[in-house]
Amino acid sequence: MRILVIDVGGTHAKVLVSGTAEPRKFPTGSGFTPQQLVERTRAQTADWTYDAITIGVPSPVLRGEVMKEPWNLGTGWVGFDFSAAFGTRVRILNDAAMQALGSDEGGRLLFLGLGSGLGTALVDDGRVVALELAHLPFRDQTFEDICGQRGLDAMGEAAWRQAVIEASQLLRDAVAAEYVVLGGGNVRLFDELPATIRRGHNDKAFEGGFRAWQPADSTPSPLRALASAAPRQSLRELFANDPGRADRFSLAIGDHLHIDYSKNLVTDDSMAVLHALARKTGVESLRDRMFAGDAINVTEHRAVMHVALRNRSGRPMHVNGRDVMPDIRAALDHMRTFSESVRAGQWLGYSGLHITDVVNIGIGGSDLGPAMVTQAMAAYSREGPRLHFVSNVDGTHLEETLRPLHPATTLFTVASKTFTTQETMTNARSARAWFLSRAQDDTAIAKHFVAISTNEQEVRAFGIAPENMFVFWDWVGGRYSLWSSIGLPIALAAGFGRFEQILDGAHEVDEHFRTAPIERNVPITLGLLGVWYASVLGAETHAVLPYEQYLHRLPAYLQQLDMESNGKRVDRQGHPVQGPTGPIVWGEPGTNGQHAFFQLLHQGTRLVPCDFLAGIESHDSQPEHHRLLLANCFAQTEALMRGKTEDEARGELIAQGLRGAALDALLPHKVFPGNRPSTTILYRKLGPRTIGMLLAIYEHKVFTMGAIWNVNSFDQWGVELGKQLAAAVASDLAATGDASSHDASTNRLINLARQRRADVS
Ligand code: F6P
Repeated sequence: MRILVIDVGGTHAKVLVSGTAEPRKFPTGSGFTPQQLVERTRAQTADWTYDAITIGVPSPVLRGEVMKEPWNLGTGWVGFDFSAAFGTRVRILNDAAMQALGSDEGGRLLFLGLGSGLGTALVDDGRVVALELAHLPFRDQTFEDICGQRGLDAMGEAAWRQAVIEASQLLRDAVAAEYVVLGGGNVRLFDELPATIRRGHNDKAFEGGFRAWQPADSTPSPLRALASAAPRQSLRELFANDPGRADRFSLAIGDHLHIDYSKNLVTDDSMAVLHALARKTGVESLRDRMFAGDAINVTEHRAVMHVALRNRSGRPMHVNGRDVMPDIRAALDHMRTFSESVRAGQWLGYSGLHITDVVNIGIGGSDLGPAMVTQAMAAYSREGPRLHFVSNVDGTHLEETLRPLHPATTLFTVASKTFTTQETMTNARSARAWFLSRAQDDTAIAKHFVAISTNEQEVRAFGIAPENMFVFWDWVGGRYSLWSSIGLPIALAAGFGRFEQILDGAHEVDEHFRTAPIERNVPITLGLLGVWYASVLGAETHAVLPYEQYLHRLPAYLQQLDMESNGKRVDRQGHPVQGPTGPIVWGEPGTNGQHAFFQLLHQGTRLVPCDFLAGIESHDSQPEHHRLLLANCFAQTEALMRGKTEDEARGELIAQGLRGAALDALLPHKVFPGNRPSTTILYRKLGPRTIGMLLAIYEHKVFTMGAIWNVNSFDQWGVELGKQLAAAVASDLAATGDASSHDASTNRLINLARQRRADVS
């Protein structure tokens, strides 16, 4: 976005537009009106284009409205409609507040502008708070009398300097600021300043004017201070001025994946700051500790070793001093033997028929990963049994899935790390009842139910023999478990060889993540961009847009991966985090999303960084479809980045024959601000190896973000409270008397549901 900043002073106004270095100025003075400001600005900036304007005025401003006529200018400022007069979006700030915003280095700062008067403003974690402290009493006069030009003239330089320092400290304490920035022309009279008082610069007013259009965080973050490394130019300008940008901001892993992050709101400076952040926050050392099997899941005292599951190097990997690779190889052999015998029709059901359908019962990590990858591998799964996934405790999920199936040819994989998860165990018990109602023989269960779990005791208690149990270990987190026996449905659907290729792809990324320098490291780069948007630029959300129908469950899978990992409010030491952590992740396959929520992406008010994923080749036999699919994908990234300026929109409307009032009325709706960030992940063709690579990249991206925020990305205590309360509510729903132990709303809901159920039955 190109922004014009107008800094209005008592004698001159200065103007600067994004991407230029030299401000221009014109005289103001007493009697100067807002109409004159508009006219003179127009005259001075006729050769500049801009999409929005920030105006700093020497008056109190509240919520973008001038509250009082400026004492050193003319009248008419209160209530003046600058947006209408300029015909574009305008933000008004108090002049001191604008300079304060530009001087912000994070945290809470008090700004004091030392000019003819005294301007004051507070910036609290990137947000400007209006303040008018100048007229408060100080040394029998006011702060303005003492610190302004009158005080300087009366006291002389040395005494004035002392008074300003005293005033700064008093006011800093009063508003609980962490530091003071002294700005305005008279700051030049200080050679030295105490540690908590910093020197400002008048040019910072322009920076504040540009920053006024950056979204503010909802919660404080010291990382906000990095915002000064955000680009001053729009992406459109950055591309126009730098032919090497796309090359420089692209990465690759082998010849499978091309990652273009050039359409992100970063410059070389921003990336340098982010690389330094990764170093400072110890991303690499935490990564190395993960690969070394240290218990980096600090709240559960566990290693985090899903990378061992796909370690194809032959190197040992240790947890608690023990090489876990032999166990992993044995578990893989078990999966191989079983999946091959089911696929070959050798594994027979109780009546001697081979298995045609497999129903995986699991939830969260025991569902989303295998379900998403099985669907992603559909093109490779034509010869295997049909796979179905039941996760929801809503009985319709199980019933609708089982309706077309026959118990004699159906195999159930009951997948649960703990084997205690309410939804999974409820579904598994109902599935067993459905099966036994036809088979009428408990011994038949061994041919139709297998378990995937770490909990042998519960598996036995359910009635599944240990030889039908596929194991994994507590150092595999649920959402990181598709590489373990939890991936059995994938091997059943697509074949064990294909499952191994998925592991190969993930291993290639692990090696890259482990060894590539930060600057060329794909997951670290994507993680840094994630932190940049969430913590520095204030994005609340992140969209994942696969232009690949086979990946239609990828956003759902990534929701668990990202939000269960980094949706944390305390750090690894248990202290509240400062600032936002994991974003809200969502998405839908392109091109469907284009006809639904892309309107908001292009013209809404929120910053939504997007990942576009696409394959250069397709599995289908319709080249025309694929050409259109890719065209849409690339075009959307271009449209988000470029936008459409008012001039371009006007030109189009004129070409369509529109003129006058009709044109003016439609014009604002036709403008696209552009400068909306996206990353494009391009792969050759969606095969097993590519899927493994993509998922490992996202895992390590999430790792990187968690490392920088210093949160434990490997626990999920936040899911427990709902589970606890659900158990209590479930027993109240089954009880006879009215519920009374909850809040009034919950009691009422329970009683209503019970009553309605009684009415129905
Ligand atoms: O409730 C959250 C969760 O614990 C996830 O982390 C996990 O993937 C899911 O439940 C299923 O757990 P389990 O595999 O033990 O049934």
